Amino acid sequence: MRRAIIEGLGTYLPERAVTNAELAEKVDTSDEWIVERTGIRQRHIAAEGEFTSHLAIEAARRALDDAGMPATDIDLIILATSTPDNTFPATATAVQAALGITGGAAFDIQAVCSGFVYGLTTANAFIASGQATNVLVIGAETFSRILDWQDRGTCVLFGDGAGAVVLSAKDVADEDTDGEGILACRLRSDGRYKDKLYVDGGPSSTQTVGYLRMEGREVFKHAVTNIASVMQETLEQAGVSASDVDLFVPHQANIRILEGTARKIGLDFNKVVITVGEHGNTSAASVPLALGVAAQQGRLKKGDLVLLEAMGGGFTWGAVLLRW
Ligand code: ACO
Repeated sequence: MRRAIIEGLGTYLPERAVTNAELAEKVDTSDEWIVERTGIRQRHIAAEGEFTSHLAIEAARRALDDAGMPATDIDLIILATSTPDNTFPATATAVQAALGITGGAAFDIQAVCSGFVYGLTTANAFIASGQATNVLVIGAETFSRILDWQDRGTCVLFGDGAGAVVLSAKDVADEDTDGEGILACRLRSDGRYKDKLYVDGGPSSTQTVGYLRMEGREVFKHAVTNIASVMQETLEQAGVSASDVDLFVPHQANIRILEGTARKIGLDFNKVVITVGEHGNTSAASVPLALGVAAQQGRLKKGDLVLLEAMGGGFTWGAVLLRW
């Protein structure tokens, strides 16, 4: 059987970090309110003329460097984003061109904050079925461009950034569960909740880009339950329990969601990677950005069992269990 192994990891944050205090000069909010409700202290904001593709390309280059792999070995690029450069073509094709790749395929995935988990799961399926061998999975966002900066209930929560991994196929024995690579993936969605978190524009409906709208309390209510249940299903699929997990790398939306989820499935909070304070919610970029921080801090060790999860608009949610 073919298993997808993470061979390289790269991240990129725009240079400019905006603190809560800076935001409070323009929006009726305070550092105290934001930190208490969300754990966010600052977020990075892309410079004028800096697009989602630019962040994605930089993260992808760093991931390829980390893997020691020439870009031309990549035969699939999956870019998770809700803030593409253009309605079409896929921003993944801009990344492909910038990296000098002319073979294989490149496409975008739209699952909002769950995008990276959806991308990893899709890449895993391509690798397992033999349709791809070396896949770049990227989460990249410029959410600052779809925020209503008059809406204090949403504009304080999000930030820009990108993260990427290189996944490669490795042949392993069916019973090999101790080896590295992706062990289990679960994706879910429930479109009944599509109006709880959405953008109020689009090419087919308004011919405008629109702004992010959210019923924060409703999202919060569903987040802990959905995330905990999909994590549990993923652990069961792999035949392991929450206490076996060495590192939990969740989507970074809100510190209170992370605390609630860890409590619900009985995960030691010391094993949770937390970057929401420095990055805010970077949507599809948040999980690979958090992986990058964990790697920098030496918290990702070979052989570690790592659980990733995310939930976002749709609602969409999912989890991936892998051995580092
Ligand atoms: N600064 C100061 N006051 C604010 C701000 C702000 N930035 N935003 C809202 N308020 C005020 C409101 O106006 C309201 O005032 P009022 O009582 O006078 O009417 C009060 O604070 C409470 O507002 P709520 O919206 O009820 O605040 P809540 O406690 O629900 O916190 C929050 C809001 C932080 C958005 C919370 O609902 C939340 O975290 N929800 C989850 C949303 C999320 O994480 N979304 C990310 C995308 S989905 C995902 O990634 C999982």
